[in-house]
Amino acid sequence: MQTNTLYYKLTASEFEWAITEEKKIRAWGFNNQLPGPVLTAKKGDTLIIKVKNDLAEPTVVHWHGIRVPASMDGTGEVQRPIQPGEEFEYRFAVPDSGTFWYHSHQNETVQMERGMYGALIVEDDADPVVDADKVFMIDDMKLNRDNSFKEGNFFSRWAERHDGRQGDTLLINGKENPVINVQAGQTERWRFINSSSARYFVLHLDGRSFRIIGTDGGLVEKPVTATEVLITPGERVDILAGPFAEGETFPIESLPYNRSTFLKAKREQFATVKVGKFKPSVALIPDILKKIEPLAPKDADVTRKITLAVGPSLKHGIDFLVNGTMHANDKPVYVGELQVWEVFNTSLMDHPFHLHGYFFQVLEDKGKAPDYLAWKDTINLKPRSKVKIAWVPDNRPGMWMYHCHIIEHHEAGMMANFEVIDPNKGAQFEGQHHHHCKN
Ligand code: C2O
Ligand code: CU
Repeated sequence: MQTNTLYYKLTASEFEWAITEEKKIRAWGFNNQLPGPVLTAKKGDTLIIKVKNDLAEPTVVHWHGIRVPASMDGTGEVQRPIQPGEEFEYRFAVPDSGTFWYHSHQNETVQMERGMYGALIVEDDADPVVDADKVFMIDDMKLNRDNSFKEGNFFSRWAERHDGRQGDTLLINGKENPVINVQAGQTERWRFINSSSARYFVLHLDGRSFRIIGTDGGLVEKPVTATEVLITPGERVDILAGPFAEGETFPIESLPYNRSTFLKAKREQFATVKVGKFKPSVALIPDILKKIEPLAPKDADVTRKITLAVGPSLKHGIDFLVNGTMHANDKPVYVGELQVWEVFNTSLMDHPFHLHGYFFQVLEDKGKAPDYLAWKDTINLKPRSKVKIAWVPDNRPGMWMYHCHIIEHHEAGMMANFEVIDPNKGAQFEGQHHHHCKN
């Protein structure tokens, strides 16, 4: 297979962004766009991405879902944050096709909230043939009447720490209720990425059925017909949308989801789809999209238990914990050794658990095997529940992490670092202490 080296440049800065014609915000983002540009590549390509920081504070860029080398993971653990005025060159191959994204991993509760994210799409010759391919990045913002970002008072900050920051300005690709034009008779691939801080998005096309064809780690085995699907912060879902009939108009909306916080679950509209004139389809959707080999049986022996919890805090009212501590350090894993992790959520609210750099399979969720096999890097945990996942660390030793992808919970401590060790080389980081960088 022929592969290429692709060069991209991303400049992080503050700029004016129109979420509607009248509503203008001071966004932070990449290349004066919100979201940042869609980076595309073909499976196997090498990307060289120069990131220039024109913000007034440090930043780093994390490549969510890409199996990069540890040194390219874009966290404060593996690189010195890019200082104002500085540049950093990320260089990595993209070994998997699918829907991925990049986002700031520094002062995330501010930087991600203001728009520092974009999509990274990796294509494959074996992808199903569709009539169009669209990316939808879901977000929301909490704005004042004058469209400045809400700072809040003591109580609202406490509530945000508890619930995650969720606002009433609903965005798809940086726009409020945009119109999405499609033509009748067409089958399109729609790639949804939940880039919000904390919002649970239950995709619904006003009752129309669609086919799920991909998740975090690319295509699933075969299309799954559905009328709704939950996409938690960090997760991706690819669907086949259509064919629709000429003249139809319907919303892309989220059904109410109660994640047991103070926020009220509502049904909300994110975009409006308008179906125009008929156009013959050239789509070609195979019955089998991809083969996924199961990593382990449902009853495989558990190699590690992880507990996500919340606890009282004198300083903050509430802390978010992994195995009883904030910003934890977990035991290392060894290259090639099957990991079977049981992740418990003892708290009374949902948490989307995200593993950096590696895909896992869900063996058991709420006591049963999932409906279909998929490669995942983020999985939701309901209150007082557990999931059992399996994964194998391939040969990319170094420091990695897992955390809750509700950005405020991550910041408030619900994360852990761990090392992947190449048994032939031994530990590179043993004895060192890894602190979560906050500024
Ligand atoms: Cu998108 Cu540390 O995560
Ligand atoms: Cu959480």
